[in-house]
Amino acid sequence: MSHNTIVINQRMDKFDGHHSVWLFGYGSLIFKADFPFIERRPASIVDWTRRFWQGSHDHRGTETAPGRVATLVQETGAVCAGMAYLITPAVFAHLDHREKNGYLRLATGITFDDGSTVEGLVYIATGENAAFLGAASEQEIATQIAASSGPSGHNRDYLLDLAHALRELGKEDEHVFAIEKYLSQIE
Ligand code: SIN
Repeated sequence: MSHNTIVINQRMDKFDGHHSVWLFGYGSLIFKADFPFIERRPASIVDWTRRFWQGSHDHRGTETAPGRVATLVQETGAVCAGMAYLITPAVFAHLDHREKNGYLRLATGITFDDGSTVEGLVYIATGENAAFLGAASEQEIATQIAASSGPSGHNRDYLLDLAHALRELGKEDEHVFAIEKYLSQIE
């Protein structure tokens, strides 16, 4: 699969005819909401865990020196905390462009922090996309992040802004916080 997912995502028709759709964000969509939304609520999804396993050629790195950004990896029983946004379908034109480097819109159940649930969408970059980098130690990930930057800024700011946003939400993420710790030792 090419790492430009715009055309595939435009074919996603599960919520056609809906006036609004819930979108779950777990990476930059938590701390950089550069799109209009009707409402946002802290939420989580189950059986997925956040990992800095996706390469970024277009935002936090370049074609020759990709950065590392968050995607979700399946893990039974895992809970991934983030932010859910209620958006109109028109917003997907912007989001599909922003998330085009390997992310597919997938349907998911979303649980709000008050325990109520809803069906929605999440952008996930799976192992089949050409930009996927896969597993590495958190120290290696920190080393790559420290050395990377792209049109959207320094890769380390993505990691640090995400760690900050998760703390503001009162959420733990051992993977993110471990990379943050290694990053602080490099700087
Ligand atoms: C997300 O934040 O939900 C997707 C990954 C990203 O844009 O960082």
